[in-house]
Amino acid sequence: MAVDNFEEKINILEKEAKEAINQTLDLAPLEKTRIKYLGRKGEFNNLIKELPKMPEKSKAHIGHRLNSVRNDLETLIDEKLHQLRDKIIEEKLRNEGVDVSRPGRGLSLGHLHPLTKVERRIEDIFQSMGFSIVFGPEIESEYYNFNTLNIPPDHPARDMQDTFWLKDFRSKNPKQNRLLRTHTSPMQVRYMEKNNPPLRIIVPGRVYRYEATDASHEIQFHQIEGLMVSKSISLANLKAVFEEFLKKFFSAKGGKIEVRFRPGYFPFVEPGIEVDIKLGFSPKWLEVAGAGMVHPKVFEAAGYIPGEWQGFAFGLGLERLTMLCYGINDIRLFYSSDFRFLRQF
Ligand code: DAH
Repeated sequence: MAVDNFEEKINILEKEAKEAINQTLDLAPLEKTRIKYLGRKGEFNNLIKELPKMPEKSKAHIGHRLNSVRNDLETLIDEKLHQLRDKIIEEKLRNEGVDVSRPGRGLSLGHLHPLTKVERRIEDIFQSMGFSIVFGPEIESEYYNFNTLNIPPDHPARDMQDTFWLKDFRSKNPKQNRLLRTHTSPMQVRYMEKNNPPLRIIVPGRVYRYEATDASHEIQFHQIEGLMVSKSISLANLKAVFEEFLKKFFSAKGGKIEVRFRPGYFPFVEPGIEVDIKLGFSPKWLEVAGAGMVHPKVFEAAGYIPGEWQGFAFGLGLERLTMLCYGINDIRLFYSSDFRFLRQF
């Protein structure tokens, strides 16, 4: 090919490429144009391949020309790229502009579950009376859940609380048989085994019962166990502590509260009592807790010398108190995850 022709070819390519770049309106076509002219197998490289065929004396001159065309094109593409990017950003800003007059979207804040709120209030009150808060395992042994609490095998009280047994519960050794605790009372002996009296604890926690659910029964719910032991605890202390607790707890309700203690039966206390309350002008007595004086058998199971110590214990239903507190009429609502319910607290 003659030098003139070759130079003409370069001129044409330059003109064509510049026009193509100028006319490009978007990023993707610009990239296509770049590949078409400057890519590895692009038009420009095709020309370079023909350079060796040129006469020796023109090579340097043509080489320069090729280089400067390539630099020009690269610069042009670069400029175009920036132009296009700016344009796209501008358009985006124009289209997605912030309309400061529009009402804002409310921030939705989470909050505590009503059961958690009430549990914390109960804990605060007992802490103010010198009780410590301790926790026990939800997977419990038959031994702590029943035997230590004076509920031997075949005792009818085992039927009072239908139990979720875990696998292999028929072993002869009650320490090996596992279940989901049916109450928080097993922590009484667990705690006394490891701690010396005098002591004052409450044990909040989840418990399980294998029973049909309805508005007042759930297969899982919460109890708060209480235990106070010293040399000279009497039923009068139990009444005083419990009345104080109930008065403080319901004081937010403003109205008057009456407390009544009735005899009741629980194998791990003697005497056993049931605590009822009457709120405001309601004519109804409602049971809120079981309680009593710690049975000598329970002290024995814990390794205390029964004659030496006295104590009271109680078990409160957290759901029950929460329902009374807020006027909730169905225990199943607590675990429904229904926002319409939860948002009210
Ligand atoms: N554990 C009993 C239950 O779940 C409640 C209870 C009653 C606990 C009397 C006590 C108590 O500590 O003294 O039904």
